[in-house]
Amino acid sequence: MAVAPASLNDLELVNNETYAADGYPHEAWAVLRREAPVYWYERDVKVPFWAITKHEDIRWISRQPERMLNAPRLAVFPEFAPPEEDERVARHLLNMDDPDHGSYRKLAAPQFTPRAVRRMAASVERIAVDLLDDLAGDGEEREMDFVTALAAPLSLAVLADLLGVPRSDWELMFRWTNAIIGSNDPEYQIAGDPQQSAGEARKALFEYFWAMAEERRRQPTDDIVSVLANSVLNDAQLPPFELLSYYFLLVIAGNETTRNAMSGGLVALIENPGEFEKLRRDASLVDSAVEEILRWTTPVIQFCRTATESFELRGQKIRAGDSMCLFYPSANRDEDVFDDPFVFRVDRNPNRHLAFGIGEHFCLGANLARLELRILFRLLAERLEHAELTGPMERLASSFLGGVKHVPLRYRLV
Ligand code: HEM
Repeated sequence: MAVAPASLNDLELVNNETYAADGYPHEAWAVLRREAPVYWYERDVKVPFWAITKHEDIRWISRQPERMLNAPRLAVFPEFAPPEEDERVARHLLNMDDPDHGSYRKLAAPQFTPRAVRRMAASVERIAVDLLDDLAGDGEEREMDFVTALAAPLSLAVLADLLGVPRSDWELMFRWTNAIIGSNDPEYQIAGDPQQSAGEARKALFEYFWAMAEERRRQPTDDIVSVLANSVLNDAQLPPFELLSYYFLLVIAGNETTRNAMSGGLVALIENPGEFEKLRRDASLVDSAVEEILRWTTPVIQFCRTATESFELRGQKIRAGDSMCLFYPSANRDEDVFDDPFVFRVDRNPNRHLAFGIGEHFCLGANLARLELRILFRLLAERLEHAELTGPMERLASSFLGGVKHVPLRYRLV
């Protein structure tokens, strides 16, 4: 770990570029957990927020959805103020509260139950095996960028299957989600400035799914696009904005996150060869290895809640209307919850990480993400005989999602 900054006023928590250059600010979070776990953060942001860094506090806040709202501030985007009601670019589960949140969540929930997800196992395995077979060649030593060659196409393919998007359009999803999530990152921008880039990608995604939804209304199928296009709420079809926002959320949430857990997980195994060896020798460790990868990488950096009333937390007076930023990677290194939190252990047990959040908004796709990760890391443990980094892992300029853009690798797959 780097040396801790001199004072709390020097901490950088939400600067996008810092994340690209240095990765997660774990040392800053550790200082906050120790010295100021509920900390009013005013620097470099349009609107200040309370930085919440303890596992217990994130759990406590997330479990009170009636007085800790998801709207209007979804997350801290440092250069923007939280949007007014009529400025929102999307309206979906993550920025909805009850009663809408509950009724909208029920519409897609049946597609994500353990049972529904188990039915996808064979096809996820097929997709992963096909990708690995292609990359293996004749088992000779080769090079690849793990992100673009494996992690991104695998998460995209699974998501596309779920949504019903044809293979020929995966590339579009990849471009749009990169441009939306990575709008601050020049590599991913598709138009002039960040806002314009994200706006154009969102518009293209909305248009694409609008056409698809209309088709599914004429001819229903069993994919999620069809289920939602034909759903009825309060005796009517979903309003277009909410319907398109639902697709938008699934596309973004379902591919950027899983991709980053895969890439960050592989890097963690390479950097901890003893742990990789343990997993290779004992395939039954794959489930706990995946939980540890989720804890270690914590691909979602933060979401916010807004207080509806004043209350006190650890001696700090939080006022109605204040926002609290929940830093999940910090919770997942909390010394009060995890033994040796900065040690990566594939057999960690218990592992009460919060990578998927907790409470009413707990990740809807958690079962699917776990399935994908378990299949991939089981196959890698069996087939990846050698892997070394040939350059640094390149990170996304985002303090919202911990994106991994490139992981250059020399490897041998059998
Ligand atoms: C490793 C992969 C993933 C991670 C780390 C992750 C993380 C998260 C987190 C932190 C939340 C917010 C939880 C909260 O506020 O308490 C969330 C919500 C959500 N996730 Fe995921 N996610 C992943 C994969 C997926 C996948 C594969 C899908 C769907 C295909 C998905 C769909 C969603 C949806 C729809 C929500 C909103 C739930 C709600 O507000 O009720 N996620 N996810």
